[in-house]
Amino acid sequence: GRSPVVLGIESSCDETGAGLVQDGVLLGHAVASSMDEHARFGGVVPEIAARAHVHAAAPVVRAALAEAGLEMADIGAVAVTTGPGLSGALQVGVAAAKGFAYSLGVPLYGVHHLAGHVAADTLEHGPLPDPCMVLIVSGGHTSLLLVRDLARDPIVHLGDTLDDAAGECFDKVARVFGLPYPGGPAVDRAARTGDPRAVAFPRPLTGPRDDKYAFSFSGLKTAAARWAEQHRASGRPLPVEDGAASLQEAVADVLTKKAVAACRDHGVDTLVVVGGVAANSRVREMAQQRCDAAGITLRVPPLRLCTDNGAMIAAVGDLLVRAGAEPAPLDVSIDPSAPL
Ligand code: KG4
Ligand code: ZN
Repeated sequence: GRSPVVLGIESSCDETGAGLVQDGVLLGHAVASSMDEHARFGGVVPEIAARAHVHAAAPVVRAALAEAGLEMADIGAVAVTTGPGLSGALQVGVAAAKGFAYSLGVPLYGVHHLAGHVAADTLEHGPLPDPCMVLIVSGGHTSLLLVRDLARDPIVHLGDTLDDAAGECFDKVARVFGLPYPGGPAVDRAARTGDPRAVAFPRPLTGPRDDKYAFSFSGLKTAAARWAEQHRASGRPLPVEDGAASLQEAVADVLTKKAVAACRDHGVDTLVVVGGVAANSRVREMAQQRCDAAGITLRVPPLRLCTDNGAMIAAVGDLLVRAGAEPAPLDVSIDPSAPL
């Protein structure tokens, strides 16, 4: 028989997402974003994000059901992000999920946000091989993970950023360059007409004595700010496109070099790149080139599943249901600083 339809709810940051997944198949999903409301503050304002989730939670579920051609009564399980994320934002999603699970009389599953990002790819490319290497790059995370069975085995954390996340670096440098928020997509767009060799930005932690799986992006941010400052001081107009292309080149170089090395070191032949920064065109391109050269299969979820969404949470819920995992109690708490 078929397993139950899982409703997934995501509200850890500024996106309210609802998705419906059954047996690894995405049936429908919808995302509402409060991104525009944060734009003038240059970053996500937790209180505004939480209020926006209150507003959007029920409508995104309704929209996901409509897209799937399903009704509320068709939902057989509910999965929700319990962390990591902004606590007020998480609370709204978890409270909504509990309401749905309790009123429908179906089990509730708590999901780790990063497991969601990893599982997003299964909705497009099918089950993940065991083992696989995952590079997760978003506004809050830059990590290399060794993943076995998502529903059963703990994820092995190989390395992390020591300071800023890659997405944060894009967002902050974009601000210095005078590009709109969120910075990542703006840098990507500006880079299209820029020269990636124009500025020799540093490649942090890529030396022979550096931690192989650790990342650092704050120095890159500082270097980009200094470059912009020097240009402005000289009275010349800032070649934003060249700066954006060069920054993107440095970030992509570091990310893909370390990810491919991690695959080689661990004898893993599949690399999955997930998270908001996986949407970056140069990161995708360079990852493909380096994986091809190393005989590694690269998997990157489609753009719409790279950024925060409810489908990825439903995908994990679906794996948990099918693995016979224990549901969460209805008094389950949020875990804003959840470790992996
Ligand atoms: O995964 P995500 O939606 O949210 C979390 O951080 O969990 O990732 C958002 C991050 C932001 O920093 C955004 O600037 C970045 O992903 N991003 C990009 C691109 N699209 C989104 N960075 C570089 N290039 C892009 N095309
Ligand atoms: Zn995310």
